[in-house]
Amino acid sequence: MLQKPRGTRDFLPDEMEARRAVEWRLRDVARRWGYREVCTPEFEDLELFTMRSGEGIIGEMYVFEDKGGRKLALRPEITAAVIRMYINEAKVAPKPLRWCYFADCFRYERPQKGRYRQFWQFGVELIGADTAIADAEVIMLAADMLNATGVRYELKVGHLSFVKNLLKDVEPALQRTIRAQLDKKDFEGLKATLDGMNRPELAESLMTIVSCQDLKKAFEIAGDIPERERIEQTMGYLDAAGVRYSLNLGIARGLDYYTGIVFEGFADNLGAENQILGGGVYRLAHLFGGDDVASCGFAIGFDRVMVSLGETARTKETVAAIVCTDEGRTRALAVARAFRDAGIRTEMDLMGRGFGAQLGHAAKSATFAVIIGQREAASGEVTLKNLQSGEQKTITLEAALAEVGAVGSRG
Ligand code: HAM
Repeated sequence: MLQKPRGTRDFLPDEMEARRAVEWRLRDVARRWGYREVCTPEFEDLELFTMRSGEGIIGEMYVFEDKGGRKLALRPEITAAVIRMYINEAKVAPKPLRWCYFADCFRYERPQKGRYRQFWQFGVELIGADTAIADAEVIMLAADMLNATGVRYELKVGHLSFVKNLLKDVEPALQRTIRAQLDKKDFEGLKATLDGMNRPELAESLMTIVSCQDLKKAFEIAGDIPERERIEQTMGYLDAAGVRYSLNLGIARGLDYYTGIVFEGFADNLGAENQILGGGVYRLAHLFGGDDVASCGFAIGFDRVMVSLGETARTKETVAAIVCTDEGRTRALAVARAFRDAGIRTEMDLMGRGFGAQLGHAAKSATFAVIIGQREAASGEVTLKNLQSGEQKTITLEAALAEVGAVGSRG
């Protein structure tokens, strides 16, 4: 028997309904903040992703050559593509641009729970606003979106300049190693790296800064940081808005385009793969032939949010099953039409089942049975049976529509 490719998933209807419900909650929040949806291709020129990150990233991607010999990659994320699109299509549009997307990404990773080779991101990019209030807006939106899903999480906000300042005379490759160690709070590894560089004195200030919850103290340790005012303003806006976050100046972020504020969200109830959101301030446009526009954005790992929500994300829709006798069938078709027109999910027997078997099947799959026998076909009424309580009554079509519709909108 053929199986799906490693790291991919099939979604049955129950799961798709739960996913769509959460997706729509995210869409609704994005819309209320003025973020409008965009769509970019599933594959891009490989160069779009290697330009900033180098050839090393190829090992983590699905890369292929098309029949014309072009080197392409399935997108591992959407930000680079959105900025390419901004330069191609919207460079002259009034700023700032508030864009969002819900799309699948592909990464050649070792699959495990919460880590897939095909996964979905709900992301936003705010392009062309280089201010503290812009950075704060994006973080407030991130919190609003996660709140709307119902997931329990912790939001960590940091800024790259603190560690950067402490490491300003360290060569870039070693900076990267140290950043990764700080991000993981791997202090043993950090000490070994610093000893190897003959800079053991850096250990204390680096370790203090990544655990520091007091912004003032962090500035004292890190020394003169040109972005100080902007950072204080951004955090000030977040505090004023009541955003719940903790300071984490050790956040490094995996992708290399970030330049300022960075932030990450972590679900309370997930294991190793508990990061459900990542983002920050970045610059990419100049690499793709555009102006050096500042941007800020984030992406929510939609699949991880769904894993975290588990059963609580399941939705139960009201279903009306039309149950009829042969004499009632023509009338039943009209009744089904009326139910569907009223927005109610309505199903009819297609298997030639007898009246009793139809009712038995309805009990397994529906909330209400709408019974149309000879009597109902003649009178124009319907017999409505609540399949949960067993209660049954013969009423007008309008009354039945109102009753089933009311349960639908409550559910
Ligand atoms: P990222 O942190 O690489 O950032 O990915 C964002 C989120 O996608 C992660 O926090 C995680 O929840 C989810 N994710 C990543 N890899 C996987 C996977 N293999 N399986 C399931 N979920 C995964 C970005 O992609 C940036 N483009 C975010 C951004 C937007 N920065 C600025 N704008």
